[in-house]
Order: sequence, then structure tokens, then C-alpha cells
Amino acid sequence: MSNLAAVSDLHVSYQENREIVESIQPETPEDWLLVAGDVGERMPDVEWALGLLRDRFAKVVWVPGNHELWTIPDDPVQLRGVERYEALVEMCRGLDVVTPEDPYPTWRGQGGPVTVVPLFLGYDYTWRPEGTSNKTESLAYAHSTGVVCTDEYMLHPDPYPTREDWCRARVAETERRLKECDQSVPMVFVNHYPLVRDPTHILRYPEFAQWCGTNLTADWHVHYPTAAMVYGHLHIPRATTYDGVPFTEVSLGYPREWRPRKNPPQLPRRILPTA
Ligand SMILES: [Fe+2]
Ligand SMILES: [Fe+2]
Repeated sequence: MSNLAAVSDLHVSYQENREIVESIQPETPEDWLLVAGDVGERMPDVEWALGLLRDRFAKVVWVPGNHELWTIPDDPVQLRGVERYEALVEMCRGLDVVTPEDPYPTWRGQGGPVTVVPLFLGYDYTWRPEGTSNKTESLAYAHSTGVVCTDEYMLHPDPYPTREDWCRARVAETERRLKECDQSVPMVFVNHYPLVRDPTHILRYPEFAQWCGTNLTADWHVHYPTAAMVYGHLHIPRATTYDGVPFTEVSLGYPREWRPRKNPPQLPRRILPTA
């Protein structure tokens, strides 16, 4: 019996996290692994982790997190925006890792068949703090509290004028592809961000939600036949249900976050079968 398993936010720039990645094993040789973004920032780090996981799992499906899309000074790859994303996709093709640019694969283990849908959508500053009504106001509020995502300095949207323009283009193109899918086969959505805003309500700093998703996907889990939604980014691992659809946050997170927890990280998390 094989499993559809998932992890995210491996953040392998931390040595302690690299050791955890080295310990990740499938339960069966047929297991698939979904990797929901934030493997790392430097291209060689991302390649190391995905290559290691691909050697162990029958199939690895990756979607980008915001960290992979950062252009940081000590990365040998200095590409920005769309070109950087395309270079990551090329790297995955070299490793035989599935990306959002590939045909959506069908997983046929117990609880399947399901169409695995890796998503790259980004965010558009529509998950704004209360009392603000546009991006300018929500960003100004974040600057006033000091809670500003590093994306503002490192995640470049080139050649799009803004990150929200890039997001809207990705959402439109993805909707076009989803309409072409067989709607009688349940889908497992994999995205760095949750498709609905609810999971962000427990953030310690609610103003951070503007970098966590988009209202444009608010009804996807009910509009499409959704078996499960897998996300990360929040660094708050948990399972919830919205409109009867299971959402699972599968992050590892930073060592300073997981080290104090009572139980050591148990990775990966099983998505299917459910029991
Ligand atoms: Fe992360
Ligand atoms: Fe993230």
C-alpha cells in the first residue's frame, strides 16, 4: 500500500534542517512526495534537497515557495522573477521532479485515483489587515508595525510590473488548465499558500497575511472536486477542514520554531490514504 505524502518549508540553509531532510524516508518504495515550497533560497541547495528526495520517492512533485524565488547575493544564480522560476523548473526537469509546468499526474494508490495539481499562484495583497482597503494602505500598516515580508526586497516580479500582476496572470492561466481537467477525478491541490484565508487567522501578526495568498482562489476547493489541499508557508503545521475539504499545513519551518516543540518533527505527513 503506497502513500501520498507531503512536506514543505524545509529551509535547508539551516544545517539542522539538512539533517532532517537526510532522515526523510518513504514508507513504501511506491510512495509519492509533495514538496510545497520553501526548500531553500540558493539554487544549489534546492537541487541538493530535491535530488536526495527524488532518489528515495517514486515521484516528487515540487511547487515554488517565496524563498526559492528570492534573488539573494550569495546564490550563483542571479536570475530574477519569471526567469528565475523557469530556471527552477529546468533544474527540476533534470532531476525528474514534477513542477506546475508539467501535465498533472494521477496518483493511483488507496484513496485514489486523484489528479495531483501542483500550483504556482503567488499573492496579490487582497488578504489585508482590518481597516485597510488597498495595497498601499496595507503595506503602510505593515511598515508601521515592523512586520514586513522579506519578499518586498528579494522577490522580484520581472518582467511583470508587480507581484500582484504576476499572481493574477498565474491564476488566470491555472484556471484555464483546471477547466480542461477531468472533473470526475478528485484533485489534490499543492500550493505554497492556502487557497482560503482562514488558516492565516491564527498568525501572530495578522498583517503578514497579505503575503500569504489571494482572494482569487477562495472558492476553488468547492468549485473543483477537491480531495485535499496541501500548503505550507505559515510554519504552523496542522490539519483543518473547510467546507468538508481537508487542508493540511505540512511545514518543517526554522529550527528556532520546531526545536522548542514537545514532539520532534515527524516528516513527511501522509495525505492519502486518510486512515
Ligand atoms: Fe517557509
Ligand atoms: Fe514561504
